[in-house]
Amino acid sequence: MDGNLNSNDISKIVEADRAHVWHHLIQHKPFETIDPRIIVEGKGIKVWDQHGKEHLDGVSGGVWTVNVGYGRESIANAVRDQLVKLNYFAGSAGSIPGALFSEKLIEKMPGMSRVYFSNSGSEANEKGFKMIRQIAHKKYGGIKNKILFRERDYHGTTIACLSAGGQPERGAQYGPYTPGFVEVPHCLEYRNQYGVCEEGYGVRAAKAIEEVILREGPDTVGGICLEPVTAGGGVITPPIGYWETVQEICSKYDILLHIDEVVCGLGRTGTWFGYQNYDVKPDIVTMAKGVASGYAAISCTVTTEEVFELFKDDSTDPMNYFRDISTFGGCTAGPAAAMENMRIIEDENLLQNTIDMGARLVSNLNNLAEKHEVIGDVRGAGLFCGAELVTDRKTKEPLNEKIVQSIVGDCMQQGVIIGATNRSLPGLNNTLCFSPALIATPDNIDTITDAVDQALTRIIK
Ligand SMILES: Cc1ncc(COP(=O)(O)O)c(C=O)c1O
Repeated sequence: MDGNLNSNDISKIVEADRAHVWHHLIQHKPFETIDPRIIVEGKGIKVWDQHGKEHLDGVSGGVWTVNVGYGRESIANAVRDQLVKLNYFAGSAGSIPGALFSEKLIEKMPGMSRVYFSNSGSEANEKGFKMIRQIAHKKYGGIKNKILFRERDYHGTTIACLSAGGQPERGAQYGPYTPGFVEVPHCLEYRNQYGVCEEGYGVRAAKAIEEVILREGPDTVGGICLEPVTAGGGVITPPIGYWETVQEICSKYDILLHIDEVVCGLGRTGTWFGYQNYDVKPDIVTMAKGVASGYAAISCTVTTEEVFELFKDDSTDPMNYFRDISTFGGCTAGPAAAMENMRIIEDENLLQNTIDMGARLVSNLNNLAEKHEVIGDVRGAGLFCGAELVTDRKTKEPLNEKIVQSIVGDCMQQGVIIGATNRSLPGLNNTLCFSPALIATPDNIDTITDAVDQALTRIIK
């Protein structure tokens, strides 16, 4: 850890933090008696806190972000070199890293064509929603403007994204919401809502979307926004047949498919994008977190050429283009970092590592499930795994979330950071989340699951 920080400096920093920083997604009352956590340094898959304590980061910066790990000098250098050449110009003009990164990104996304830059996952999704709305106005007299979202999915923190959010605890008290967003049921087979499904649970769950479309009126539904694998809503891997049926439904009713790759994008599931695990062709793909692994703020809304064409097909109409701007979408640090991030994923063969280490993580978690009855279900795709905790395997009664949090806390004591669903779903914040950097080694994976084993042994009697 940084040798320049002495204990005097650190206590000043903690006091400044306590006095002035409003941390994200956390209750501050406890900070009146305990110190807020400050992460001081990171290297590879490890981070060090203000006390110099080392942690193995099993959640890539807390929220699935630092895909290539900490301390990458080559990314820092690429950003530095770009900043001294040109740090910024508004996105109505192009930039060298913007053009080069777009070309490299589109190479990995057959069928997609155009990249719109902004800064956060929420913002990227808002752009997608605006595109769907503008298309509704252009093509369908404004009528086909509803956007479907799925129970348990999350698309961001702005009011429109919360209006498209399937996690009631994230949205509560922030209404009134934006009209025109309609919920469809979740697709978590472990909590099957339909009983025996002859066609298979995946097809049944997708058909539930069709039921909503028919109820709302297909001529009023313009788009659907879905996570390829639901993240904060409990690491929900789609059941067999689900995505293929969703695709058929979208084609049948002329509904734009917007896939939110904010978590899965850039390798998390072992493919460049989560949707590439399934037979599906999106119209709009959004991405953020792993795009530059947190070395710079960048998000992208990527569309097909067909979608893009709709915004330039009549140049005599002064309103016929995407009248949107993101000031910081013109920052060049984002694409400069993102290009180097992609190079690292390729040169270090991190997609294959993600597949191999993800298989080891799932296998270790399944072994733990044999030992600990409290693990009701293990789910995962690549280095994106969850273990749902229940008090009774038959009734699937969720484990009390205070106990879930104490398991996370016990791992933290052991120097291993894991996550859990957090203020998402009333009574169902009971899934442990694992998403180490794509550079994870077999030892790292075993250390994570050993910590969980010890925590469960200590806490669950
Ligand atoms: C699937 C998904 N979409 C969108 C977002 C919002 O991204 P941001 O926090 O960058 O706005 C998140 C954040 O966790 C997410 O998990």
